[in-house]
Amino acid sequence: MDQNKFARIAQVTVKLSAKFLRHRNYQKLEEAIGLLEATRRAELESGLPQEAYGVALVGNAGSGKSTALSHLFRTHPTLNLLRQDVVQADVASILVPSPSTLKLVGRSCLTGLGYPLQRDRTAGVIWELVQHHLQQRQTLLLHLDEAQDLMRSRSASEMTAVVNTLKSLMQHKEWPVGLVLSGLPDLKQLLNNDTQLGRRFEPIEFSQISYETDAGNVAKIIGQYGKESGLAVADEMLGRDVVQRLIYAGSSELGIVIKLIIAAIREALLSGSPRLETDHFIAAFSRKSGCVDDLNPFVREDFTETDPRLLLTTNEDLVTADTVWSGLK
Ligand SMILES: Nc1ncnc2c1ncn2[C@@H]1O[C@H](COP(=O)(O)OP(=O)(O)O)[C@@H](O)[C@H]1O
Ligand SMILES: [Mg+2]
Repeated sequence: MDQNKFARIAQVTVKLSAKFLRHRNYQKLEEAIGLLEATRRAELESGLPQEAYGVALVGNAGSGKSTALSHLFRTHPTLNLLRQDVVQADVASILVPSPSTLKLVGRSCLTGLGYPLQRDRTAGVIWELVQHHLQQRQTLLLHLDEAQDLMRSRSASEMTAVVNTLKSLMQHKEWPVGLVLSGLPDLKQLLNNDTQLGRRFEPIEFSQISYETDAGNVAKIIGQYGKESGLAVADEMLGRDVVQRLIYAGSSELGIVIKLIIAAIREALLSGSPRLETDHFIAAFSRKSGCVDDLNPFVREDFTETDPRLLLTTNEDLVTADTVWSGLK
């Protein structure tokens, strides 16, 4: 075993994984959050009672929602993200537990805000406490990630409670909070469930990528990441065949495609090759999915007959952000 070689490879892949690509949907998100922030601040300055609104970011698993919001909040010049050691925080970002209840989500918010509950309380009391602590910390925006779990397998009355809780956060008399919800496309159902709630949200979609619109950018990522890893990248790797297969293998989701490129680079470095080649994509897909060549979209002639979801998991019901990525990490 060559620990030094592994360490060098790990350094390269860690560096590549930490990179953030500003894609066109990210620019839309940046604009929507910028306006939301500016509106909250202008309302506060005006001193008039107002009602906040929100942004709903939807996209499939692996489209890059969590990464985009985390990058935006971490690098934003005027929005400071909640940390335990500071009282004032413009943004609090919370992961909705799965499976969840209104009460569990409220508890997660309280823990995130630094006030874990010691005793059991009703959902109503918990959400009043959430509102109270958001006001104490002067929090303008509350981000709930995987927000579709707020509506999974809910009865009509539970759905009403979720909708009312979200509305009351935004309509609070003294301290209305702007909501940023991110999640899978069925999050739209939650918002459409109530027209009053729905019209308070600006929707942003992280849509799938396609060969027709994104081939150039995907080729650029292969070229740039390859170069940064010290590998030569032949023109063939940036050509139609490889790029088409890559987009297909990544389920047309930008984040999955990027992860596959990094995984292929890792295979190239492991094999000691000075060049990035198709074989490395074959090896990356096969390592992550455990599939034979005949099911590998980088091998099979009629690659659209293969199933890129092999990369995700064998059990569709278990697909969550974590399981999707555990295959590629
Ligand atoms: N803009 C980006 N630049 C670089 N890597 C990205 C970008 N968006 C997503 N990724 C990669 O894709 C992975 C999956 O993205 P993630 O944000 O978890 O997707 P989602 O939350 O939509 O399921 C991330 O771990 C990250 O490595
Ligand atoms: Mg996510």
